[in-house]
Amino acid sequence: MATDKTFYLETFGCQMNAHDSEKVIGTLQHEGYRQVELEEDAGLILYNTCSIRDKAEQKVFNRLNDHKKLYKAGKRFAVLGCVAQQEGEKIFERAPYVSLVSGSASYRKLPEMLVRLEAGETRITGLDDRQTEETFETEFTSRQNPYRGYITIIEGCDKFCAYCVVPYTRGKERSRTSTSVLAEAQRIADQGYTEIQLLGQNVNSYRDPEGKRSFAELLAAVGEVGGIRRVRFTTSHPRDFTRDIVEVIDQVPTLCDHVHLPVQSGSARVLKLMAREYTPEWYLERISWIKAARRPISLSTDIIVGFPGETPDDFIQTMDLLAQVEFDCVYGFKYSGRPNTPALTMIDSISEAEKSARLQVLLDRQREIQRINYSKHLGQVMEVMVEAHNPARGQIIGRSSQNKPVNFTCGQAIAPAPGSYMQVKITGTHPNSLTGESV
Ligand code: SAH
Ligand code: SF4
Ligand code: F3S
Repeated sequence: MATDKTFYLETFGCQMNAHDSEKVIGTLQHEGYRQVELEEDAGLILYNTCSIRDKAEQKVFNRLNDHKKLYKAGKRFAVLGCVAQQEGEKIFERAPYVSLVSGSASYRKLPEMLVRLEAGETRITGLDDRQTEETFETEFTSRQNPYRGYITIIEGCDKFCAYCVVPYTRGKERSRTSTSVLAEAQRIADQGYTEIQLLGQNVNSYRDPEGKRSFAELLAAVGEVGGIRRVRFTTSHPRDFTRDIVEVIDQVPTLCDHVHLPVQSGSARVLKLMAREYTPEWYLERISWIKAARRPISLSTDIIVGFPGETPDDFIQTMDLLAQVEFDCVYGFKYSGRPNTPALTMIDSISEAEKSARLQVLLDRQREIQRINYSKHLGQVMEVMVEAHNPARGQIIGRSSQNKPVNFTCGQAIAPAPGSYMQVKITGTHPNSLTGESV
């Protein structure tokens, strides 16, 4: 075992994984470890993994394979996250140079696992199953994003959609108390963050264990924390999307004008096979509430094409829904069969080529919808939070409240710092971004 306490950590997967990594980094630092930028420079190499689709899972095994020679140089490997929980001890068979495997429900035990690792133990596991009630709360979070503070308010998932690994990899649904969420929001604000993003696999399934606040009430309370200018939340599930969420966005100016509401399919038959427990009509009713808000609220969604048994007619219904809602952003995925899931036992008769063809049709149509949606912003003045600079193009890169990327120029000699807010007049529109100049 390398005696120097240095680590390299790489994250795959969703925002919750990225935020877990911030907490893992903070925990490691508290244990005396120092983060380095390259695998080669680290004593301990950690991969925080994703298993949502097969491609994501393959990525980590490829990465391990690329670096396994470092084991001989005394470096140790740890696999964290969803692939760790899913594959468990099988990872030691597939990659014998891995010493530690831990799912997200066991991270609070990381300090003791690290002690065992330092003592030279191998095959250390943290594989708490679905039964855990605990959430991973730590005061050591090392926030990697300088302007946006993430707060996980609910972990796990109990919905068991037929295609999805998350209930198996992240365990049962459990919420934090709204008191502790608000205390963390206040701490973040005190540190100078002005944007907060509340996270959960199904963020709006939130249920305060103390019974003090509904999800909408928690949103309002976070939005009213002094110093906070923007609050985002993701991902919302249609089943638990209530009208008071729209009302509170209308009432509290700091809540951003954006809802990400994954629909997955526009066909009632496919939604039933997926066990989503809503119909297209149910979904569209929630969309109608959002569209009736006083402020224009931007909508985005996730869609799976080629679910087992999806007929050309089912796919057309998804395309119809797309045309009806006119989303500002769609994440489209080809169905990927996942371990343990019920969909794996359904006949997956749609070829890879057909899945790709459907995805392409979907993305092409969506691009046209977005071209029109985005063009409506021409001439508007909007508040943009600065995220980065692009000196080569003389542009500043930022984001609107609706979560749209805005690239703009600014007359000031010194470019505005990341995290600052600018008023920008939109002078150009594209299907995925806006351009403009500060006013
Ligand atoms: N909890 C959220 C989604 C979380 S997973 C919800 O229920 O809406 C993020 C997205 O990955 C999903 O919305 C879905 O579109 C996609 N996804 C999940 N499992 C998949 C699979 N087996 N194959 C392809 N896409 C999948
Ligand atoms: Fe997966 Fe469904 Fe849970 Fe979303 S609601 S995480 S898609 S099981
Ligand atoms: Fe991937 Fe796990 Fe997130 S499977 S999408 S990292 S919850």
